[in-house]
Amino acid sequence: MATKEKVKVTTLDELTPLIGKKVFIGDKQIGLFLTESGKIHAIHNVCPHKQGPLSEGTVSGEYVFCPLHDQKIDLNTGIVQEPDEGCVDVYEVEVKDGDVYVCL
Ligand code: FES
Repeated sequence: MATKEKVKVTTLDELTPLIGKKVFIGDKQIGLFLTESGKIHAIHNVCPHKQGPLSEGTVSGEYVFCPLHDQKIDLNTGIVQEPDEGCVDVYEVEVKDGDVYVCL
């Protein structure tokens, strides 16, 4: 298996709790989310339903609600919650010296 690529995408200061942030790694669009518990999640930023921009969605607990049609996505697994279905990629996040890295 190929080694994971670790890319710096932002700094901790740039993240606001419960407000998503869109970043790009190459042409891959990633949504970053800082939850109330202080955990940072990185998921593919494009909703599997109709490509809604998930970083503009509402964050609640460990979930984000798509801004377009309100489907609920688990930030830990990327799985769209029932009754809807689908899933988005999730990425590992690392924080070091105030910098935020996403592992691809
Ligand atoms: S595009 Fe996300 S719920 Fe429809």
